[in-house]
Amino acid sequence: MHILVTGGAGYIGSHTVVSLIEEGHSVVVVDNLSNSQLSALDSVKKITGKDIPFYHVDVTVESELEKVFQAHSFDGLIHFAGLKAVGESVEKPLAYYYNNLVSTMVLAKLAQAYGVNRFVFSSSATVYGDNQVPFHEGLDLLPTTNPYGETKAMSERILSDAAKANPNFAVSILRYFNPVGAHESGLIGESPNGIPNNLMPFVTQVAKGKLKQLRVFGNDYDTVDGTGVRDYIHVVDLAEGHVAALNHLTEGAHIFNLGTGKGTSVLELVEAFEKANEIEVPYEIVDRRPGDIASCYAEASKAKKELGWTAKKGIVEMCRDSWKFEKNFQG
Ligand code: NAD
Ligand code: UD1
Repeated sequence: MHILVTGGAGYIGSHTVVSLIEEGHSVVVVDNLSNSQLSALDSVKKITGKDIPFYHVDVTVESELEKVFQAHSFDGLIHFAGLKAVGESVEKPLAYYYNNLVSTMVLAKLAQAYGVNRFVFSSSATVYGDNQVPFHEGLDLLPTTNPYGETKAMSERILSDAAKANPNFAVSILRYFNPVGAHESGLIGESPNGIPNNLMPFVTQVAKGKLKQLRVFGNDYDTVDGTGVRDYIHVVDLAEGHVAALNHLTEGAHIFNLGTGKGTSVLELVEAFEKANEIEVPYEIVDRRPGDIASCYAEASKAKKELGWTAKKGIVEMCRDSWKFEKNFQG
């Protein structure tokens, strides 16, 4: 299939472009490079041997995006483009609502106008809020604590309504748990701007000596060792989940968790990282981070049953590949 990938220069997008090409699809990337660099696509070329047509376009600008639809005949699209920093979304709610909602609406409008009826959307486990774990797709959504999470819940509703109104429109809504890791080549991975908010990039930067020590946010949760539990998923597994979703699209909107179904605490992750890479990660315990929940992990059986997809890589590979990328990364 010929696939449009928005946000394809970013962390999850670039890995998904690799998986799509490896599965025999052809890809066009649109990205405004607001949180990525074009060099990621050079690395994708090194891995796959393929040139990736690229458009430096903002997905919220309909007239620009329409030119891409005019130039290609797509069979489907994957919509990664979006702003994703939770804290920043609290400070700049309008920027988040505008970027994440307008991009989804413009893209859905053009997809329907040009008869591109396969639409895969990046959502997040954050839409479950503080529900009872494990989170399954049938749960009623609880309000999230931030505008970022709200844009994901609203985008899900927009796309579901669009699919209800158009019987040809097939939408796959993928709720990611905590993506970590990098391509095994070490050529692409996650390189956040500034000081990372998320655990794994913080751990790799401490291991590299860029940051002094990890702050563990709370050890008094009701979890195995008191620290927060999350469902970490290797980004290559996640990328393959998108290919499976594209291959199994059927009319209507369908929601899938993409997680491993296994929870890992902060201290378990630190220990696994130290063991896998034979490197020390100094840490201190500090107060809880506002807005955090104790535990978040997936009920992952729906994607297995309906998409034939399961995560294959474990926490050791996640730690090893995250570290391999960080060591290579000049930034
Ligand atoms: P990322 O920031 O690395 O990638 C997003 C890409 O979209 C970037 O390359 C950015 O430049 C681009 N972009 C943003 N707004 C755009 C616009 N208006 N027009 C064109 N390009 C635009 O983030 P990621 O981690 O790869 O996340 C991809 C998607 O998955 C996002 O929608 C994110 O919200 C979602 N998601 C991410 C996580 C995570 O932990 N990484 C978890 C759940 C959901
Ligand atoms: C965060 C976002 C969530 C988003 C997800 C994936 C918040 C409140 N939530 O989730 O909306 O979908 O990223 O992008 O930001 N931790 C530390 N020290 C650190 C960093 C994290 O102890 O320096 C702990 C956290 O308290 C948590 C775990 O590590 O228990 C994972 O944190 P993180 O990687 O930020 O992801 P989430 O909190 O799950």
